Amino acid sequence: MLPQPVLIIGTYNSDGTPNAMNAAWGGQWDSKEIVISMGAHATTDNLNRCGEFTLAFATQKTMVAADFVGIVSAKNYPEKIKNTGWNYVASENVNAPVFTDFPMIFECRILRKIDESEEGYYIVAEIINILVNDEYLSDDGKPDVEKMELITYDPIHHGYMSLGKRVGTAFFDGKKLK
Ligand SMILES: Cc1cc2nc3c(=O)[nH]c(=O)nc-3n(C[C@H](O)[C@H](O)[C@H](O)COP(=O)(O)O)c2cc1C
Repeated sequence: MLPQPVLIIGTYNSDGTPNAMNAAWGGQWDSKEIVISMGAHATTDNLNRCGEFTLAFATQKTMVAADFVGIVSAKNYPEKIKNTGWNYVASENVNAPVFTDFPMIFECRILRKIDESEEGYYIVAEIINILVNDEYLSDDGKPDVEKMELITYDPIHHGYMSLGKRVGTAFFDGKKLK
């Protein structure tokens, strides 16, 4: 499936320190709900304890550290978040860290776990709130995706691709062919 997002799931470890992991197997489930395919990770243990998390959208600037949090586990790498250089504050709406180096962050709460086993499960989670820095808003006050320099994951060659320019208007351009 293309394009796949590069999502950074933020949770707290059992000792209260923040953790982050990369998830590309995720997407929209319903208008206010998202889905993520979760394996068995430190993050999975954190979600089992708490059920709340943040979801940051990775960018060109955060790409190297976003990959890093996808290849090391907090289970055996306690310095994980320190090495990213990311800043964080406590979310006001969910029990999870907000990584402030990202332009857009969802605050989420798990609604359902599907096909739960020792190997993981599919999360369906509600988007409680969306945080966007002012500099990434367009003139109409809504998030401006073009300003964010978001990246997507290419599962064919394991690449990170930059999201490009807007090329059209949905539910409109097609009318030309009516
Ligand atoms: C590009 C990329 C995409 C990934 N997508 C997922 C995913 O969708 N689901 C998942 O369970 N793990 C995914 N992973 C693996 C986790 O991010 C990885 O196992 C991580 O080390 C878990 O960290 P933790 O144990 O500290 O929670 C992905 C890794 C990378 C590099």
